[in-house]
Amino acid sequence: MYPYVEYFDPEEIGYTDLMKQELLGVAKQVDAEGRYRQYVSLGGYTNQLEYFGLQKHTGIGADDFEITQRMRSLIQPQHKVEAAIYVKFAPRARIAPHVDDHLERSTCLTFPLAPEPPDFAPTLYFKSMDDIVKPCYIEEWENRPGALNTREVHAVFNNEHLRYSFQLCFRIPLKEFVELHRRGEMFRG
Ligand SMILES: [Fe+2]
Repeated sequence: MYPYVEYFDPEEIGYTDLMKQELLGVAKQVDAEGRYRQYVSLGGYTNQLEYFGLQKHTGIGADDFEITQRMRSLIQPQHKVEAAIYVKFAPRARIAPHVDDHLERSTCLTFPLAPEPPDFAPTLYFKSMDDIVKPCYIEEWENRPGALNTREVHAVFNNEHLRYSFQLCFRIPLKEFVELHRRGEMFRG
């Protein structure tokens, strides 16, 4: 629910179940190959979220997979997709309440991959960093893509399941992202 999350109809944006299965295949393959890395925020904090994205030095990166390129292509070419990443939470992994400090992740278009709902752990939102006891909004993921506002305080406390998702990251704030979508100027469809 806006201002935290905005959902999109998979069919309307051109995202199919076959694409989801391909993404999950990549997520599992690169996990088996040990390619996920611990996420470190600009402030230097490490946390328990792991990701597979751009590989700067050696080896393969997310964009070497054809399905990653097809996911980028869901977006109209005038918009810059800052990053395409696979995100992993190990069982019981946690990321404490925070606001993302990477501005190129202001809006993260998120595609839940596994486990299936209702086992996919929710994203929790809080009114402010001074009020992180009780979430003001709990995003119970269903089987549909959603754009997350990472400029609001949020957290994930994973359950006993291995949790995989895929994200397209944008500098565009969620409000603007939603307006562009309403004008038919975000997705190719
Ligand atoms: Fe975040």
